[in-house]
Amino acid sequence: HYKLLTTHSSMIGIFDSGIGGLTVARELMRQIPEAGIIYFGDTARYPYGNKSKETIERYALEDARFLISQGAKIIVVACNTASALAIDVLRREIQLPLFEVITPAVEKAVRVTVSKNIGVIGTRGTVNSSIYATKIHEIDPEIRVSSQACPLFVPLVEEGWIKRPETKKIIRAYLAPLKAQRIDTLILGCTHYPLLKPQIQARIGRRVKLVDSAEEVAVRIVEYLKNNPAIKNQIAGNSRFYLSDVSSHTEVIASKWLGRAVKFEQAVVE
Ligand code: DGL
Repeated sequence: HYKLLTTHSSMIGIFDSGIGGLTVARELMRQIPEAGIIYFGDTARYPYGNKSKETIERYALEDARFLISQGAKIIVVACNTASALAIDVLRREIQLPLFEVITPAVEKAVRVTVSKNIGVIGTRGTVNSSIYATKIHEIDPEIRVSSQACPLFVPLVEEGWIKRPETKKIIRAYLAPLKAQRIDTLILGCTHYPLLKPQIQARIGRRVKLVDSAEEVAVRIVEYLKNNPAIKNQIAGNSRFYLSDVSSHTEVIASKWLGRAVKFEQAVVE
């Protein structure tokens, strides 16, 4: 059961396993400043990156239904792991326009690669699902795809260890196999990785094009709203941010990432 609001406006609903999906909210707010966003981060059940498909499917459905109960008219799955593992069940069960972060990044990467040699980094769940390789090969079977799970990136980013020498070493270790593959395009297939962009770029080399899934999904939503003015005109309201577990630490990090103070409200999702 959800706490239903008596009056609510039409909003763009975004969910993630935690606060990492704020990278998508940040892009949307930048590209459509007037849009009302309702954000839900499932911090009580975070992280999703190492969990099974069955669990992610159940969580993702509950997360989407919470957003709908709060007035969402469009659902954005900001979490790469949920996009990789739960999109089919979401499409079956949720009768609203649904956006996930994988397809837009795949299409961009296929467009920009010249050597047809793409790298993908993400959580273990995302990498083990092979979804990026599958989707890339649906477009162009000749592209070589090398994937690398980087499970330590998420906690490092959440600790704010962006410029630490330890982080630099871990980046070097994770990217070494991709560097050896001589990729020319690298997909940042996880909510948190855009926050390490300069460090990843420095290590992988300036010639490698980084594809940011948060940026690409925002472009797609902007396009969609342009083509569907009836929906665009409905989307309005004050943005609200919900978490299933609110702590002061999350508020501090989230405000730093968004570049403005964020006040989270407690959500009950089950
Ligand atoms: N949001 C997750 C993703 O994009 C990363 C954090 C987690 O493991 O839950 O894959």
